[in-house]
Amino acid sequence: MMLTPASPGPICSSLMACKIKVDLGARSYEIRVGEGVLAQVGALCRELELGPSALVVSDEHVNPLYGPAVESSLRAAGFQVGRVAVPAGESSKAEARLFRLYDEALDRGLDRRAFVVALGGGVVGDLAGYFAASYLRGIRYVQVPTSLLAMVDSSVGGKTGINLPRGKNLVGAFHQPVLVAADITTLRSLPPREYAAGLAEVVKYGVIRDAAFFARLEANLAGLRSGEPALLEDVIAHCCRIKAEVVRLDERERSLRAILNFGHTLGHALEQVTGYGTYLHGEAVSLGMAFAARLSTRLAGLPADEAERIENLLRALGLPVDRPDLDWSAARRAMTLDKKTQDRVLKFVLADRIGAARPGVEAPDAVLEEVWTEGRQPKKR
Ligand SMILES: NC(=O)c1ccc[n+]([C@@H]2O[C@H](COP(=O)([O-])OP(=O)(O)OC[C@H]3O[C@@H](n4cnc5c(N)ncnc54)[C@H](O)[C@@H]3O)[C@@H](O)[C@H]2O)c1
Repeated sequence: MMLTPASPGPICSSLMACKIKVDLGARSYEIRVGEGVLAQVGALCRELELGPSALVVSDEHVNPLYGPAVESSLRAAGFQVGRVAVPAGESSKAEARLFRLYDEALDRGLDRRAFVVALGGGVVGDLAGYFAASYLRGIRYVQVPTSLLAMVDSSVGGKTGINLPRGKNLVGAFHQPVLVAADITTLRSLPPREYAAGLAEVVKYGVIRDAAFFARLEANLAGLRSGEPALLEDVIAHCCRIKAEVVRLDERERSLRAILNFGHTLGHALEQVTGYGTYLHGEAVSLGMAFAARLSTRLAGLPADEAERIENLLRALGLPVDRPDLDWSAARRAMTLDKKTQDRVLKFVLADRIGAARPGVEAPDAVLEEVWTEGRQPKKR
């Protein structure tokens, strides 16, 4: 495969974590990405004049690993600190967990000056963020993402929420954090499959917004796969810059922000029809992006060799791209349930070329089924 020359991209010094501003007027905040950021959380919160009380919300995997460091950083900065851990996994994004957090906060006497520190992956970020959005009509919160997916995506942009038995993310709020502090050393303990799933969202940014960044990813496969620190810091910071820019332009997802859902229409459907037990979110998004890329060649003029580059990059990063052995009718039905479907017409985010995507493209059923069938895995016997 011919590689496009790699662009130099932004360089961050690992001595001083990268700083990225999310520019939203009165709701603006900073993202810090680097090594050792965890130990700075307390001082950064003090600079923001938060407090005096902090409630650290984490999960049972992440809390024993990084809870003590965050707590001592906050205590050293003069805060009173409580720490709670929910069970790890998607099932914690639920009403019962949320209500236990309200009880915990009331038991501790937390008032409106208190703030929340969400320490963990996207599940903790969404749950703790929504808790912060709703407790006492809204208190401030800090995102301390520890999964790659949370660092490049869910911790930035202020979408918070929980699931209902009838679907994912059906209750939530836009509530921006006051700080995002991403310590890339925490990624060392992230299970490799979770790490690879996060890379799917990284690839997404190249496809939707930045062809030179996409080429850089192609040119740095080994470093990405091994999690080379300087490269990771740079890549995560760049993804955050892209997300920050998209959110600045369309905070409430009236139009442009929907491009961040590239690959998610089919991705969410696959997660749903397989009962959320088969694919990690990023894996389902990878399958969805490969599908959306093929659909883009049919409906948006994406050159076929660019669709192939998207598939090749995902595959090289250890991600699935072949349509799974699933009935088209089941996948199609699940896509109709997506909360972004309007009047049952399926709309996709499609790419005109690598680096440029647009939302809201209607896709005729016949074309969808053809693309699904073309990329289908042969049936196992
Ligand atoms: N709010 C948004 O904008 C947004 C965007 C994308 C995804 N999401 C949500 O994010 C969630 C998925 O996030 P996720 O992939 O981070 O899942 P997750 O929070 O479940 O984390 C994945 C697993 O990795 C573990 N983990 C996290 N960091 C670790 C570390 N450093 N070391 C060891 N283990 C670690 C967790 O305990 C968990 O078991 C979904 O609920 C999705 O809906 C939200």
